[in-house]
Amino acid sequence: MSALLSFAFLFAAVLFVLGIKMLNSPKTARSGNLVAGFGMIVALIAVVPQLQGPAHGAVPMLNSVLIIAGILAGLVIGAIGAYSVKMTGMPQMVALFNGAGGGAAALVAAVELLHHGGTPRGAGFITVMLFAALIGALSFSGSLIAFLKLQGKFEKPLTYPGQKFINAAILATILVLGAMLATADASTAPLLVFVALSLIFGAMMVLPIGGADMPVVISLLNSFTGLAVAADGFAISNVAMVIAGTLVGSSGTLLTLFMCKAMNRPVTNVLFGAFGSGSGGESQSTDVEGSIKPIQIDEVAMLLSISQQVVIIPGYGLAVAQAQHQVRELCDELAKRGVETSFAIHPVAGRMPGHMNVLLAEANVSYDQLVEMESINPQMERMDVCLVIGANDVVNPAAREDRFSPIFGMPIIEAEKSRTVIVMKRSMGKGFAGIENHLFFRDNCRMLFGDAKGSLQALVSGVKAQ
Ligand code: TAP
Repeated sequence: MSALLSFAFLFAAVLFVLGIKMLNSPKTARSGNLVAGFGMIVALIAVVPQLQGPAHGAVPMLNSVLIIAGILAGLVIGAIGAYSVKMTGMPQMVALFNGAGGGAAALVAAVELLHHGGTPRGAGFITVMLFAALIGALSFSGSLIAFLKLQGKFEKPLTYPGQKFINAAILATILVLGAMLATADASTAPLLVFVALSLIFGAMMVLPIGGADMPVVISLLNSFTGLAVAADGFAISNVAMVIAGTLVGSSGTLLTLFMCKAMNRPVTNVLFGAFGSGSGGESQSTDVEGSIKPIQIDEVAMLLSISQQVVIIPGYGLAVAQAQHQVRELCDELAKRGVETSFAIHPVAGRMPGHMNVLLAEANVSYDQLVEMESINPQMERMDVCLVIGANDVVNPAAREDRFSPIFGMPIIEAEKSRTVIVMKRSMGKGFAGIENHLFFRDNCRMLFGDAKGSLQALVSGVKAQ
């Protein structure tokens, strides 16, 4: 029986690895999710008989009932959440789910620490469990604050004098308490204080960070949750938890680093800076040279119809407007007229990794039309029209030209190099970084003001009428 269970856990772990591998490409991502989900079902089923032994309480049936009740509750909440969340609300949902994972990992660790009352355990075991309790709890409270920030519940990041010192003092207290707990057998009261302080530390750590940086913070907390789960897995000898936790820990860490690299900001700047919060360094170049030149729908429709190559740069505004179907329709109409269209995808366009890919896939835009930033930039000079839809920071030449700009050094899609740039947005409103966009003032740039969905609908009709 135990060999069969070990095999089931190993099989589940293999499915997790395969699932993550399949997320590599938009073509296999959907199936990858299903494969990893199936792995989770295998692991959940395998855990039921494992908790039937005498070591797991006097009422073995109760364990099964509790596990099944937990699975059903999780299924219902997860399914309702996943079906009802809007694409723009995805980061919030990830924050909540991640928080739940961190909280569960902390609870497992706390229960394990108190479970075998009287049975001597080594300092190694206690240290690993304290580590899981600490990072699981801080991931739980930090994720909840991240969720509230993304929901717009905090107007500004919460900062006050001496904040870093207070946070450091809380962390130091946690570490001292942890060292005391590791050398003595854990008893309830100090352990509760340890977990409570970890929860407070998680919240305090995230409160001063700007709401706009929450996707990076969530990715980092996600990696913490993974590590907490892996630590739990070591302690309770569950190989599936060790592998799944390590996968989440390492992929979350890599994702955090990739996001920071794509924004050209060190992780420390995200955690201890105030970017996107309004208090970050505003670019010195607020008096940009050039003027804003609006354009009308029929002019754009004509320009597009007579082009040979059009590149579309989607951004956060496209997601907010939910205009992905209209942009696909526009491409279809242009294709009928022999105009070649492609989409230039910036790695941090939108508010979460892969935001634009997911959005466009939802509208059945062909994967072959999506071109990554590094590949499209050398081709920009050949583009007749570059249509920037609801994107701002990811096309801002200040990133290359203005060394005082907060986004200086961030790689951008070089929209300004195409023959004509049409920027579709509602107003002169700023993007995530809260700075002026030099592109809008360029001689070859025209502004088509309006909601992206409405403008695209009008453009489709305009192109049809050509
Ligand atoms: P942003 O720079 O945020 O610009 C989005 C623009 O969309 C705004 O300027 C806004 O202008 C416009 N907009 C909003 N609603 C619209 C609507 N209904 N119709 C038309 N336009 C609309 O977006 P981006 O260029 O995609 O850049 C993403 C930013 O997020 C980067 O700075 C990146 O570093 C940051 N970020 C991304 C991630 C990930 S992983 N993707 C994570 C953390 C941070 P108006 O108000 O004038 O319409």
